[in-house]
Amino acid sequence: MQPVVIGSERSEVGLPRAMEILAAGGSALDAVEAGLILCEDNLADHYVGTGGLPNAMGIVELDASIMVGSTRQFGAVGAVRSYPNPISIARRVLERLPQHCLLVGEGAERFADENGFQKAELLTEEARALFVSGLRPSTDSVEGDATPAQKGDARYRETALRLVHRLNPPDGPWGTIDILALDRAGELVVGVSTSGYPWKYPGRVGDSALPGAGNYADIRYGGAACTGRGELSMRAVGARTVVSALARGLDPDEACRHMLEDAATLPDDFRAELRCLALTPDGRHGAAAGKPGGYYVVMTESSTGPELHPRAML
Ligand code: GLY
Repeated sequence: MQPVVIGSERSEVGLPRAMEILAAGGSALDAVEAGLILCEDNLADHYVGTGGLPNAMGIVELDASIMVGSTRQFGAVGAVRSYPNPISIARRVLERLPQHCLLVGEGAERFADENGFQKAELLTEEARALFVSGLRPSTDSVEGDATPAQKGDARYRETALRLVHRLNPPDGPWGTIDILALDRAGELVVGVSTSGYPWKYPGRVGDSALPGAGNYADIRYGGAACTGRGELSMRAVGARTVVSALARGLDPDEACRHMLEDAATLPDDFRAELRCLALTPDGRHGAAAGKPGGYYVVMTESSTGPELHPRAML
């Protein structure tokens, strides 16, 4: 099997390391974890790991998950504070706590501590400044010529602002990262990591930590992962819907578009971009988005660097 790794926007920070591991005969599990750690540690990225944008109280809470295609084993953490690499804690849940799939909040932090993970400050000065600047009333129009996604985003900002005022936080475009890898042995693994929606209600867990919603892998048909508005992906069971479409014989682009079409029928005042990408067990890949300009990243053994591919349009 020729190894391949794909990822969502900004995964190019982690994909070269993931491909190095795969090219050396390493596992897809190691490749996905190593790639996402680099994304989580990228301080310029404000939607994942250290430097992620905080919740309505000004506290960074992270979600992550990892799923193995051959066994459909799943490990995940949600609303984890103070630990910079939730993808590694999620993997540890998968490997060391097989009686469970998902730990959240205090329990996830206790488990991280028991397993020797080190705490760190996750809120960087730059992320704090972005959080504070977002507290100013939005000038985006929610009516007129704005697209449905722009109107949804603006409504979300207005609602979050009311929430932030209610929760009295300390003074003081989002985007999850997905990586999907296929290794030489034919194993398929999907990993997802995020700081979730900024200004979210404390304790809110998004699709990234949920099997079937933000992440799904089934070696018979393929793997898929989502980014964007997690509540839509949860309601549409986004990643599982993509994999079911692969199982029916749709190609990866079509399977992704099919899921977005279904999600587009859901009523949602906070509708914003939902995106997805997919990888099949024979190495075919694709992705879709609701507006132009989206891309996904691909690397094979012959790549000289991350290759950017346009997403299919809904
Ligand atoms: N898709 C990431 C989130 O909604 O948190």
